[in-house]
Amino acid sequence: MRLLVTGGAGYVGGHTVRVLLDAGHDVTVYDNLAYGHRESVPCKLEIGELDDRAALDELFRRGRFDAVLHFAAYAYVGESVTEPSKYWRNNVAAGLELLDAMRKHGVERLVFSSTCAVYGPPTRVPIDEDERKAPESPYGESKLTFERVLASYATAYGLRSMSLRYFNAAGARPDGSLGEDHEPETHLIPLVLRAAAGRGDNIRVFGTDYPTPDGTCIRDYVHVDDLASAHVLALDALDQPGAQALNLGTGKGYSVREIIDACRMVTKRPIQVVEGERRAGDPPALYADNRRARETLGWQPRYTDAESIVRTAWAWHAKQWGLQPGT
Ligand SMILES: NC(=O)c1ccc[n+]([C@@H]2O[C@H](COP(=O)([O-])OP(=O)(O)OC[C@H]3O[C@@H](n4cnc5c(N)ncnc54)[C@H](O)[C@@H]3O)[C@@H](O)[C@H]2O)c1
Repeated sequence: MRLLVTGGAGYVGGHTVRVLLDAGHDVTVYDNLAYGHRESVPCKLEIGELDDRAALDELFRRGRFDAVLHFAAYAYVGESVTEPSKYWRNNVAAGLELLDAMRKHGVERLVFSSTCAVYGPPTRVPIDEDERKAPESPYGESKLTFERVLASYATAYGLRSMSLRYFNAAGARPDGSLGEDHEPETHLIPLVLRAAAGRGDNIRVFGTDYPTPDGTCIRDYVHVDDLASAHVLALDALDQPGAQALNLGTGKGYSVREIIDACRMVTKRPIQVVEGERRAGDPPALYADNRRARETLGWQPRYTDAESIVRTAWAWHAKQWGLQPGT
C-alpha cells in the first residue's frame, strides 16, 4: 500500500515506519520535526505542519495514498494541563485538517494513535474498551474527542478508522538502530536508565502508599515493536467499515519498583531512588484487557516481561552514550 505516516519521525511512528517498510509498503512521513528526528526517518520525509491545509492538499495530490497512519500529536500530560490550547489545536483542530484533506482526496482508511489516558481512573482492571471514559487531562480529552470525530466521520462520510489505545510504550529496536529519544523525557524506563548511566537525577518514586503489593503504581509497558506490528495488522482490519477502537497493552502490569529492579538487573548498575509524595491524578493500577485486539487483529505481543523490554531500551541507550550494554 501507499501510506502516509504523520509523526513518523517520532518514537512510536519511527518504529512503525520500519515495520511497514519491512512488510513491503511504500511509506511517506509527514512531520514538522518539533519533537521528531530527521535522521531517524528511513524513507521519504516531507517536512510540514499538520494544520497547513495547502501543503496537505499538495501532498495528497502527489501521493495517491491508500491509507494514513496518524501519530502526530503533542503528548505531554502535564503540559496539557498548563497549556491546553496547544493540545486542542494540535491534537484536534490540526487533525481535522488531515481528515478533511483525506476526504477531499478520497482516502478512506486511517489508523489513529490513541491512548489509555482516554479512560482516566478506571472502575476496574484490567481495562476493557467499554470502560467508562473519564479522562483527567486535556491530553486525554483531546484524544477522546478525536476518536469521537472519527466515529462521526465514519457515519457521515464512510471513513474507516482504527483507534489504537496504547498503554505505556517502551523499549527500542532490538538491533539498536532506533530507540526512545524524547526531550524532555517523562517516561519511567528511559529516566531510570539515565539515572543508571549517571546521566540524570536520582529516580523519584511518586507515592509508595498505593493499595498495590509494593505500594507503588502499576502500569502496562508494551514494547514499541509490538505496537508497530499492531499497526500493520490494523491496516488489513480496515476492510471493515466504521470506527473501531482497540487497547494495545500486554495485559500485565508492573509496579514502579519492579521496573526499577528490572533496570538494575539489566544494567548491573546501582540506581538511587528518592521516595516522594503521590502525584495528583495517578491511579494505582492501569493495565489492559487486550482480548479485543488479539481477536480482531490476530495480534500477539512478543515482549511480555519487563526485563526483555528494558534490555532492548538499555542496548539502545548504552549505544547512544558510548557504554557497553553489559557494563
Ligand atoms: N509514547 C507513549 O507511551 C504513548 C502512549 C499513548 C499514546 N501515544 C500517542 O502516540 C503518538 C506518538 O507518540 P510518541 O511517543 O511517538 O511521540 P513523539 O513526540 O515522539 O512523536 C510525535 C511526532 O509528531 C510530530 N508532530 C507533532 N505535532 C505535529 C504537527 N502539528 N505537524 C507535524 N508533525 C507533528 C513530532 O515532531 C513527532 O515527530 C502520539 O499521538 C501520542 O499521543 C504515545
